[in-house]
Amino acid sequence: MQVIIKKNYEELVKEAVTHIKSLIKAKPDAVLCLPTGSTPTGVYKKLIEIYNKKEIDFSGIRTFNLDEYVGIPAAHPSSFRYYMFETFFNHVNIKKENIHFPPSEIGGENIEEQCREYEDLIKGAGGLDMAILGIGRNGHIGFNEPTSSLQSRTRVKTLTGETLRDNDIEFEGDRLPDLAVTMGIATIMAARSVLLLASGENKAAAVKNTIEGPISAFCPATMLQLHPRVKIIIDEEAADYLSRKSYYKKVYERTLYVEQLFTKK
Ligand code: F6R
Repeated sequence: MQVIIKKNYEELVKEAVTHIKSLIKAKPDAVLCLPTGSTPTGVYKKLIEIYNKKEIDFSGIRTFNLDEYVGIPAAHPSSFRYYMFETFFNHVNIKKENIHFPPSEIGGENIEEQCREYEDLIKGAGGLDMAILGIGRNGHIGFNEPTSSLQSRTRVKTLTGETLRDNDIEFEGDRLPDLAVTMGIATIMAARSVLLLASGENKAAAVKNTIEGPISAFCPATMLQLHPRVKIIIDEEAADYLSRKSYYKKVYERTLYVEQLFTKK
C-alpha cells in the first residue's frame, strides 16, 4: 500500500483528482465506485471545476455507489442518491443510465436477490477500475462496520451507534435509518485499484489501524493491506498517529523519482 501524506485537505483533494483524472484519460469508459460523506466533497467540487475547463470528460464513465440507507426515498435530502446528484452528477456530463446505486427500496423483490443483481451489474460492467473510499472513525469502509466479514459482498448491514451519531450531524435532526445496503469488503477488494481518503485528526486512529495494525474484521479497512494497488491519501492531521510517517514520505518521494527515471523523454 502506498501512503501519501499531504499538507492539508486541499492538497489531498488535488492528489486524489490527479489519480482519477489519469485513470479517465487512460480509460474513458472506466468503472468507478463512489463514496458519499464530507471527505469526498472537495474531490467532487474539483472534478466539476476541471470538467468546466474541459480537462475531463465523464460521458463514458460508469459509476456504482458504495452504499445507501434502507428505505430512504431518492428525493430525501438525507439519501446518498440526493447527495450524489446535488454534489456531482447534476454538474457533469455523466449519462444517467451509467449511474448505479445499491438496492434500498423497501418492498418488492427479495433484498438478497437484489444485492446479487448489484454484484452482477458490477461484473457485467467489467468490474470496478477504481474504488474511491472514505473511512469511518471505527475503520469502516462503505458501511462495512466492525466485525463485517472480510469476504462479504453487497448486503444489508446494521449501522453502529457511532456511525449514526457521526452522520446525524449532516442530517439536521431527521431520524436516520439504522440499516444500509453496502458493497462488501470482497466487492471492494475486487476493484483493480483503490484510493482511500482521510482528513482530520478524528480519523487518525482509524488510519493508524488501517496502515499499521493487524488485519482484523474489527477494523474492516485493514483488509486493504492485502490489496495490490491501494493508495491511502491523507492529510497531516489524519497521519498524526503513524509511527513511520517520515518513511512513508520518503517512499512516496522515491516512487516519484523512480517513475521519472523510467519515463521516456
Ligand atoms: C459513505 C461511506 C462511508 C464514509 C465514511 C466517512 O458512502 O461509504 O464509509 O466514507 O463514513 O465519512 P466522512 O467522509 O463523512 O467522514
